[in-house]
Amino acid sequence: DGYTAAQLFGQGSTYTYDDVIFLPGHIDFGAHEVDLTTNLTKKLRLSTPIVSSPMDTVTESEMAITMAMMGGLGFIHYNIKLEEQVAQAQRVKRHLPGFVMMPTALRETDTITDFEALKARRGVSSVCITEDGNVGSRLLGIVTCRDTDFVNDRLTQLGELMTRDVDTLPEDASADKALEVLKSSKRKSLPVVDANGNLVRLATRAHCLEEARLPRRGAASVGADGRLLVGCAVGTRDDDRRRVDSLMAAHAVDAVILDSSQGDSTYQLEMLAHLKRAHPDLQVICGNVVTSRQAQRLIQAGADALRVGMGSGSICTTQEVCAVGRGQAAAVWQVSRLAASLGVPTIADGGIQNSGHIIKALALGASTVMCGSLFAGTSEAPGEYFVVDGVRVKQYRGMGSLEAMAKGSEARYHSDTQNLKIAQGVAGTVRDKGSIRKTVPFLVQAVKQGFQDLGTRSIPAAHAALAAGVTRVEARSSAAQAEGGIHDMHSFNKVRW
Ligand code: XMP
Repeated sequence: DGYTAAQLFGQGSTYTYDDVIFLPGHIDFGAHEVDLTTNLTKKLRLSTPIVSSPMDTVTESEMAITMAMMGGLGFIHYNIKLEEQVAQAQRVKRHLPGFVMMPTALRETDTITDFEALKARRGVSSVCITEDGNVGSRLLGIVTCRDTDFVNDRLTQLGELMTRDVDTLPEDASADKALEVLKSSKRKSLPVVDANGNLVRLATRAHCLEEARLPRRGAASVGADGRLLVGCAVGTRDDDRRRVDSLMAAHAVDAVILDSSQGDSTYQLEMLAHLKRAHPDLQVICGNVVTSRQAQRLIQAGADALRVGMGSGSICTTQEVCAVGRGQAAAVWQVSRLAASLGVPTIADGGIQNSGHIIKALALGASTVMCGSLFAGTSEAPGEYFVVDGVRVKQYRGMGSLEAMAKGSEARYHSDTQNLKIAQGVAGTVRDKGSIRKTVPFLVQAVKQGFQDLGTRSIPAAHAALAAGVTRVEARSSAAQAEGGIHDMHSFNKVRW
């Protein structure tokens, strides 16, 4: 039944995830037995095959921390100054599970209205009051909703309402210790202060409990130093060399992505050669590529992984504007086939809309998938929520959108800053999707169930079945796609993923 991937993709059409469907295999194991451990790069291993995209509306420290805690990894974007990118990456490296590392803080002179604005933007119910309104300055007290709810004058200053005599934890308190104190004191949160009384972080009941209840506790992505793994995107210019030097000097990065929509360039080859000389221990991910020829050149030059995809992203217009690209299923299969034969893992980047797409990417040869839109609009994504037409949204934008390029990301598109800027992406909004702490375990479980249906226990087993022609695929006609979706319903409860 069906066709091998070589037969299907060898027919002259480009296919994307929705165009293909797998035929089921034989099940002789439970979904819980499926192991999704994988290689992100030649040397870095992850227990969850999902990473977040280096986009300025997707991955900064909070996303990278949570992704690593869930066994995946986040790539911090570089549409920010060098010092800021280093600080973001360091925040990941310094993260301690159970704590809020950047708690919200206000000054004594701020008012209930300021507190309410903060509550709406950040979803918090209490705030630390410090001398200058920042973390790192002296803790003066705490204000919670209980202090402000019944005060009529909303311009009352927080200094008048705050609890001054606050229990605190010392800087070296572990998460387990914090949980113990939170339990016995029945408090919702406890500020952690240094020897001088400066606010360092916050231990919260919710974070501690959440950490303890993480479905796959112990599966976090950590390096040999016991710190969370983190990646950073960089470009290929001279100042990007300095970026990497600074990230390495701060021990703040495990892998860099040379971020380009078309990775087969002398810029990338030269940068790769430089990084391999200057930082032999650093894992360097090249791309993006969609053909075997592009992939071969970068692999021969020493790439530790390849990022695959051109124009498949939800915000991308590259295929329309520049007439280049490839259907993502075809790109993943072609590049991964070549890369696998040379021992290099691939990252299927862009176009992932649901768990089925993740299964297809992995079963077609990718070792991990990279998501932008799937994680945009979550509470871990940068930016604040706002309301449009009654819907709570966050911004999501392509790094090739005019808005993002205005902040400096044009290098990704080899844009000539002297000339007119050509957008290769759009900017818009996505719905509030809640936390990735809920999304990622859901995706992982769905992928395991898909693997079970395929009769495949692991990602390497899926790749072996693909290479041996055991995996059988077919193209889906548009009627088959319609049939595979929901139809003939008057109404139904729309499942998001
Ligand atoms: P998804 O579908 O997950 O895709 O939202 C995210 C990926 O899209 C790429 N990207 C872009 N591609 N113009 C493009 O053609 C853009 O402005 C743009 N911004 C991001 C990138 O590979 C990302 O991981």
